[in-house]
Amino acid sequence: EQGLEEGLPKILVTRKLPQAVEDYLTSNFNVTLNARDQPLKPEQLQKALHDYDGILPTAADRFDAQMLTEPAIRCKIIANFAVGYDNVDAEAAAKAGIALTNTPGVLTDCTADIAMTLLLMTARRASFSEGYLRDGDWSGFSPTFNLGTKVAGKTLGIIGMGRIGKAMAKRCHFGFDMPVVFYNRSRMEVNEAKAYGAIQLDSVDDVLREADFVSLHCPGGAANRHLINAQRLSMMKPTAHLINTARGEVVDEAALIAALQTGTIAGAGLDVFEEEPKVPKALKKLDNVSLLPHIGSGTLETRTDMGMKAAENMVIFFSGKKPPNQVN
Ligand code: DGY
Repeated sequence: EQGLEEGLPKILVTRKLPQAVEDYLTSNFNVTLNARDQPLKPEQLQKALHDYDGILPTAADRFDAQMLTEPAIRCKIIANFAVGYDNVDAEAAAKAGIALTNTPGVLTDCTADIAMTLLLMTARRASFSEGYLRDGDWSGFSPTFNLGTKVAGKTLGIIGMGRIGKAMAKRCHFGFDMPVVFYNRSRMEVNEAKAYGAIQLDSVDDVLREADFVSLHCPGGAANRHLINAQRLSMMKPTAHLINTARGEVVDEAALIAALQTGTIAGAGLDVFEEEPKVPKALKKLDNVSLLPHIGSGTLETRTDMGMKAAENMVIFFSGKKPPNQVN
């Protein structure tokens, strides 16, 4: 067995998880849970690499190259509670002999649901309208008050046609009669794309120019940092809306705020931000945005499935086999 000095492997879980997951972990490992559910500080995460055989962190817990290249690290597996793993330097982890795993597949539908929710909310100015009602400002039905834009029949543009991109395409094409265009790094068979009612275009720019709603479903990390910048925002239609349920860093947030303030684009629906949990004041002031606190995978079913998947990767790893969702 790997990483074991005596007894059960010592595991740190960085945040409170659904009860079923904590019970499963407790029955398999010597577990330290986070009953107070407070985010751990970078120093605590760094220390954990030396004190535990395995760590189960969330996407908000960062493990950079410097932390992972320290001498005498005890940790042998980081089982990330997320499909995205841009919070861990995967290469540095591999060099340190640490397996990194993620949780693909189980959060596809719920994340696409939140992308769809944000698309509808921003198209229909739902956040502004609800605030107006809650503030007691509503004085009755008006034919011209706070008009949004129709969704049915408009073109959806997807950047990143992985599992979640495909699930979003299905919702929009089959549920809302929307033509779908997409950009993906690798080529997809025309027939496969057709199954999602979608047509592949050659570049991100082509998608931005054509779409009425652009939904981001690519990974975070250095390669996609500020993929959507001021120049690309200016390629979008002034009537278009940007939806981001991927990673905040994919969008240059300052450029997006300027584009929303000046009418370069019409609106945005965001579940992720560049420096979570910080959300710029200027963004919160805008009435043409809908903002959610990174809840794409936030259902009890999905968060339980994610936890179980992360835990199973650890159980398999400590039985001496390669974990099924190892990414490095
Ligand atoms: C993911 O799984 O990558 C989500 O963003 C949740 O962290």
